[in-house]
Parts: sequence; structure tokens; C-alpha cells
Amino acid sequence: MSKVKPATGKLGILTPGMGAVASTFMAGVIAVNKGLAKPIGSVSQMGDIRLGKRTDNRNPLIKDFVPLTKLTDIVFGGWDIFEDNMYESAIHAKVLDKTLLDQIRPELEAIKPMKAVFDREYVKRLDGPNVKTGANKMELAEAIMEDMRRFKEENGCDRLVMVWCGSTEIYIEPSEVHSTLEKLEEGMRNNDPNIPPSMIYAYAAVKMGIPYANGAPNLSCDVEAMVELAKQTKTPIAGKDFKTGQTLMKTIVAPGLKVRALGIRGWFSTNILGNRDGEVLDDPDNFKSKEVSKLGVLEEILKPEENPDLYGDLYHKVRINYYPPHGDNKEGWDNIDIFGWLGYPMQIKIDFLCRDSILAAPIVLDLALFLDLASRSELYGIQEWLSFYLKSPQAAKGLSPMHDIFLQNQKLLNTLRHLMGEELITHLGMDYYY
Ligand SMILES: NC(=O)c1ccc[n+]([C@@H]2O[C@H](COP(=O)([O-])OP(=O)(O)OC[C@H]3O[C@@H](n4cnc5c(N)ncnc54)[C@H](O)[C@@H]3O)[C@@H](O)[C@H]2O)c1
Repeated sequence: MSKVKPATGKLGILTPGMGAVASTFMAGVIAVNKGLAKPIGSVSQMGDIRLGKRTDNRNPLIKDFVPLTKLTDIVFGGWDIFEDNMYESAIHAKVLDKTLLDQIRPELEAIKPMKAVFDREYVKRLDGPNVKTGANKMELAEAIMEDMRRFKEENGCDRLVMVWCGSTEIYIEPSEVHSTLEKLEEGMRNNDPNIPPSMIYAYAAVKMGIPYANGAPNLSCDVEAMVELAKQTKTPIAGKDFKTGQTLMKTIVAPGLKVRALGIRGWFSTNILGNRDGEVLDDPDNFKSKEVSKLGVLEEILKPEENPDLYGDLYHKVRINYYPPHGDNKEGWDNIDIFGWLGYPMQIKIDFLCRDSILAAPIVLDLALFLDLASRSELYGIQEWLSFYLKSPQAAKGLSPMHDIFLQNQKLLNTLRHLMGEELITHLGMDYYY
């Protein structure tokens, strides 16, 4: 029997950062609700799930199996340093066609950013006028909490979820101030420089019991103090960094090569992109956050220390270059040097001409809907089953994150089966029905 509370009333999805990803996500849901397009790439809306034995022929859509919030019950809000409403932001981002945006213009124009918590120290390439002031970082967190209370009341929401869609901040390593909740709160009162804006938003959300997901590689909720707060307030959290273009490909291809015991000598990945995200990542300190997030993937999947003959000499390099003519249409190139029987070398080249925000938008939707489901199912703390969507998944202390997309998918589907009181599927049964 399912113990999930029903999704009654409206769900407010709030995004700190209302640029390309957020506007593509919001415009997309509104367009779907008007029957103008379909939510392709959203597993929660388009994916199905096998239940029982293969011979049972039970394969419902996930949205018909678990009680998710309906897309028509979603209300959007958020914060940005720019005052652009979501129509203006979407036009600026140049991801979606103007003809589509014009059909949903009034709905998009009604979504206006609240004043942001921002500090140029953490994103040097950006500056904007729509910014809060406060004596210290705790006061700023309280202002965000006040924004959320007001938003909830004004929009008649039953529940809220926050998904960070803001810029990538400079690289910060976990340190003393992040180690306990007490130290974090003291650090916020003392304006500790190791507490970036994304952590202030995350603190505000989790303190109020509002589920929080982090779409960028910033530390944000990925520190011990935030995990402690999440347990205290019984709040689900997930992070970090949406798994879209090149890393999506990497976590699809690498597990396949590994299960066939093919060796990998080198993996060179380079990206060119020309959106505002690319501009921010052009700064070496911000790129460092992204680089660290992207690099961990292969090591974890291939485990060179456990299989030095196949992966011991692996050379992995990731580059990102800002190239304005490409706009949001990122090009991700991979050169993979592999070797087979008796060590004979071979090469694989992947050239993924992708669209960054088109890949990220359904992830924002799924993370928001599944975190809300987690909250209604009384799951809290790190939601590892949502690693499927993340480039650098947060894992409990002492555990290394899981990157293989097929294992991540099984974990996601089995969590849904478990929540609904269905038998788990391990594909390990000895008879052919499994
Ligand atoms: N698109 C993808 O495929 C993808 C994949 C993984 C991660 N991401 C991450 O998602 C984030 C958003 O990407 P995007 O393409 O929409 O970028 P974008 O530059 O178009 O939008 C980010 C927005 O965040 C705002 N912002 C920055 N700091 C803020 C703050 N403290 N408070 C409120 N707003 C703030 C900026 O003004 C900007 O409008 C980036 O961090 C990016 O690295 C994107």
C-alpha cells in the first residue's frame, strides 16, 4: 500500500536564477498546459515503468502510477539580479522560438523576479540592479524566507519547492564553517566568505522545510551543515549540477565500454557554448567549479584502482570555451581512445550538437515534482535516487556517488515502486519472468 500523501492544491516552483534554463522550463510547462507542445525528455511525464513480472504486461506511465502534482497545478516564481520578466528573459536567452513565446506571452510576463541575494565576489562576470541588501547573510536568508511566505500566500500554494537555476559560482571547498549547522549559522551572522549566495537560498528553503535541488556545481546544500539541517527539518535535498549534454553522453557510453571489458586510455572532452552560462564559465574560478563537477564521473564508473589493466593509465581532460556564435546550442566533442583484444587501439568520436536549456528544462521539472513527492512520502535528507539527473550527485558521508546512468535509473524506478508498495525489480530472478 502506498503511504504517499496526495498532491492536493497548488505547488509553487521557485528558482533562484531566472535565465535560460528557468525561462525554458517555465515557458515549456505553460506551452504544454496549453496543448502547444509535449514535455519530451521529462521522465516524470513521458516515461513509463514496468511493474510485476514481464508477463504481467503492466507498464503505466510514471505520472499515472505515482501521485505527482499535475502540470496545471504548478505556479512559478523566483529571484534574479535582472528585472526581466520571463517573457523578456526567454527572448534574451534565444532558446525558444518567438512565435511560441508570443502565444504564451501574458502568462510569461506575469512571472517577475524577486530581488536576489547576490554578491559579485562569487560571479565576477555578472552585475545587475535587482539585488537585496542586508546587514549579514542571516538577515538575507530571512528576507528570502519572507519572500517565500508571501509568495505562498499570494498564490494560494499548498506546497513550495526550490530549484537553483542561478549561475555557477566560484569554486569553494567544504571547510570548518560548513561542518555543523551551528557553525554555518554563526558564519552567516559573521558574513563568512565561504558562504556563497546559493548556500543562503538553500539554507532559507531547508530551514522552512521546503525541498531544495541544486542545478549548478556550487556547494550549496552539499555540505554537512545543510544535511544536518535537512534532517532536523525533515526536508528532502538533491544536488548537484544538472546532468545534460556531454556528461549525459559520458555516463551512457562509459558503462557500456566497461561492461564489455574494453580498455580506455584517454578521454578528451571539449565544449563550445555562447550563452550567459558560457560567459560566466569563461572566468577560471567559475570554470573550476564546473571542471571538478565534470571530472569525477569517469573515475567512479571505471574505478581505475580496481582494474589497472583497463583503466590505470586513463587520461581525462575537460575543457569549456565561450564561443558566442553558438548561443545556447552547445557543441560537445569527445575523443575517446580505447583498446581491445591484445591491446589493439581504437577510437570513438562523439560530436553532440545539443541544446543546453532544452536538455536542462525537463530535469528542473522532474526534480521539482519528485522532490515534492519525496516530501509527501516523508523522505528527507539526501535523495540519492535523484542522482539520475545530476552530474555530481550528493551522497551520504563515506559513500562515493553513483554515476552510471543505468544504475541510477534502476534506483529511481525502484524507489517509485517502493513508495507505491510494488515489488522491486532487480532483474536478478532465476526464472525468465524477471
Ligand atoms: N543548461 C544546461 O545544460 C545546464 C547543465 C548543468 C548545469 N547548468 C547550470 O544551470 C545554471 C543556469 O544556467 P543558464 O543557462 O540558465 O544560465 P543563465 O546565465 O542564462 O541564467 C542564470 C541566471 O542566474 C542569475 N543569477 C546569478 N546569481 C544569482 C543569484 N545569486 N540570485 C539570483 N539569480 C542569480 C543570473 O542573473 C542569470 O539570469 C548555471 O549555473 C549552469 O551552469 C546548466
